[in-house]
Amino acid sequence: MILLDGKKTSNEIKEEIAKKVELLKQNGKKTPHLAAVIVGENGASLTYVNAKVKACEKVGFESTLINLPEDTTEEKLLDVIRDLNTNDEIDGFIVQLPLPKHIDEHKVTLAISPAKDVDGFHPENLGRMVLDLPTFLPATPYGIVQLLDRYNIETSGKSCVVIGRSHIVGSPMSILMSRNNKVGNCTVTLTHSRTKNLIDYTKNADIIIVALGKTEFLTGEMVKDGVVVVDVGITRVKDDTKKSGFKLLGDVKFDEVAAKASYITPVPGGVGPMTIASLLMNTLQAVETK
Ligand code: GUN
Repeated sequence: MILLDGKKTSNEIKEEIAKKVELLKQNGKKTPHLAAVIVGENGASLTYVNAKVKACEKVGFESTLINLPEDTTEEKLLDVIRDLNTNDEIDGFIVQLPLPKHIDEHKVTLAISPAKDVDGFHPENLGRMVLDLPTFLPATPYGIVQLLDRYNIETSGKSCVVIGRSHIVGSPMSILMSRNNKVGNCTVTLTHSRTKNLIDYTKNADIIIVALGKTEFLTGEMVKDGVVVVDVGITRVKDDTKKSGFKLLGDVKFDEVAAKASYITPVPGGVGPMTIASLLMNTLQAVETK
């Protein structure tokens, strides 16, 4: 079994980005600037956004964190987005999800200028992805593609099962794995809560990508020998032995599945760091294609 080390791979990507930023600066070009907007005090979201800002510093980007209170109105958030859309200093920005219940996520996503949508969530960018046109790929699926690519995992002709049909991971992931690309050319099955006899699909899968948010959902008996497993889940579970008071669990019962897998991502240190690396890649792309 080989561990798909997202931490190591994302560090390699960050080093590559840092070199490109250095070149941009030497050539008198603008330093890439990413802004992140977060609404409320969700602990996990704050951790992710802070990690994104820290990653910007590491590669030499400028970054701006806009932290709005939980009771921010939808109109106020849309104003902030409109300002970011027209601020020439900002090359790309994200609005961290989930948002408080009183804010319509679709309205927010639609308000972000596609040219600055480095999360790749705007319908225009998702449409461009489907049509194989240049775009910003959604950060988590893009990170997974990068990881499979950099470990030279053969995907062509393989059977890929995606578990979970979220707009930000499962659905775009299923499209990317079926595209005619180096990482792609899979026969993809997108499974979800209404799928009957899931095990019939997972047992026959060469590649399984789990993005469900249910801890230790994929067990050893559900997979075949030699399977490649990508675990997108990252759930905080109370653990008094930890200083933080919690541990992080993925959607895969790691020990059981790892015993049968050829490649598997750990949690933490798998997909999470790759998502951040992809966001940085998209932000650099936003500057380079200006
Ligand atoms: N919440 C969970 N994943 C993501 C992501 O990739 N981008 C944003 N904006 N919010 C998220």
